[in-house]
This record gives sequence, structure tokens and C-alpha cells, in this order.
Amino acid sequence: MPRTDTAGAFAQQPTLRTERLVIRPLREDDRRDVRDIFSDPEVSSFLAGDGKPATWIDDMIDRRLAFDGPKGMGHWAFVEDDILVGVGHLRPSAELAGDVAEIGWYLGRDHQGRGLATEAAVAIRDHGLHTLRLPAVWALVHNGNQASHRLAGRLGFVEVGTGTHYGGPHKVYVALPRTPSR
Ligand SMILES: CC(C)(COP(=O)(O)OP(=O)(O)OC[C@H]1O[C@@H](n2cnc3c(N)ncnc32)[C@H](O)[C@@H]1OP(=O)(O)O)[C@@H](O)C(=O)NCCC(=O)NCCS
Repeated sequence: MPRTDTAGAFAQQPTLRTERLVIRPLREDDRRDVRDIFSDPEVSSFLAGDGKPATWIDDMIDRRLAFDGPKGMGHWAFVEDDILVGVGHLRPSAELAGDVAEIGWYLGRDHQGRGLATEAAVAIRDHGLHTLRLPAVWALVHNGNQASHRLAGRLGFVEVGTGTHYGGPHKVYVALPRTPSR
């Protein structure tokens, strides 16, 4: 179970700590690092759809920084030894009905393949399920995104359907408080 720097279940978005990572709220001075991560076509291949303006990465960072949702949710930077290695989020879904909580994860290519996304996603999932006491945490994964399907599986997410989301075919996953966890 990750440690959380939060006084109560509904405190402002907390910093989470795992064995290797500090998972802290995203901030403006992360912009350059986040831009570098998403500028890599391998990282953004399931995001950078046709017809997006050239400014799509900064627009996306602006939206993340402007998040004004439920307390305890938001966008986080994954930091290892003072290096921003990835970002993730837990926020009301704009794609699924009912404002359910949707998780997301992204790692810079140089930092993949070491279990860091698993570590961060477990912490955010458990923050949602156990600290915020959400009834469920949802994830949408593009059908072709094999690394994310493996990650969802490692986290105990259960596939419950498919649908067109973010402009493409996605699998719908859910983790419940009783889902066996890593
Ligand atoms: C999805 C994404 C975050 C997964 O990254 P990842 O590095 O594969 O995931 P992890 O950091 O958890 O690493 C797991 C891999 O490292 C290996 N690994 C090495 N050491 C490990 C450790 N200590 N613990 C766990 N796994 C470890 C695992 O075997 C696994 O490899 P495998 O998937 O080939 O079996 C990454 O591919 C990404 O950023 N993709 C682009 C963005 C994206 O599509 N985001 C999702 C939108 S839904």
C-alpha cells in the first residue's frame, strides 16, 4: 500500500510514494519534460490522432494543469531520482457515463520496461479505491495498445466491454476494491 501525504480521504490531491517513485501533482514547471515525453511518436501513437493541431501537446498539458475536479483526484508526475519519468491521472471520465473515475498512465520511452508504470498505477488505483473509497476505478485502453493491456492485467483490472472512445476502438476495464491486488 503506498504512503499518502494527506490528512484525510478528501484532502487536496496528495503526493503518493512508492519504492522508487514520488508521484506528485503535476505543475507548470513540468511542461518541458511532459512535452518531451509526448513528442515521442511511440508514446503518443494512440493519442496523436489525425487532424490534431500542432499545439496538441501543450493544449493537453494546459487541460491537465487546469484540472478542477473532485478533491483527491487530478494529474500526477511520476518522479524517480528528481527525473520526471511519466505522468498519470485519476479523474472523472469524459468518455464513460456517470462521471466514473478513469485512470491513465504514460511513461517516457527511456523509462519503460522496468515496472515503473505498474508501480505508479498501483499507487493511483489504491489511492482511488482505498483512500478516496471510490466504488471502482476504470481504464480505457486502445485495442492495439498491448503494453497497456498487459499493465491493466498486472493490476487486476477486469475487461468488461469494448467501445469507441477517444476516436478509436478501446477495451473497457474496471478495478473494484476487492479486485486482487499486487
Ligand atoms: C503503457 C506504458 C505506460 C507501459 O509501460 P511499461 O514500461 O511496459 O510498463 P511497466 O513500467 O509497468 O513495466 C512493465 C514491463 O517491464 C518489465 N519489468 C522489468 N522489471 C520490472 C519490475 N521490477 N516490476 C514489474 N515489471 C518489470 C515487465 O516484465 C514488463 O514487461 P512486459 O510488458 O514486456 O511483460 C507505456 O508503454 C507507455 O507509456 N505507452 C504509451 C502511452 C500510452 O499508451 N498510455 C496508455 C493510455 S491508456
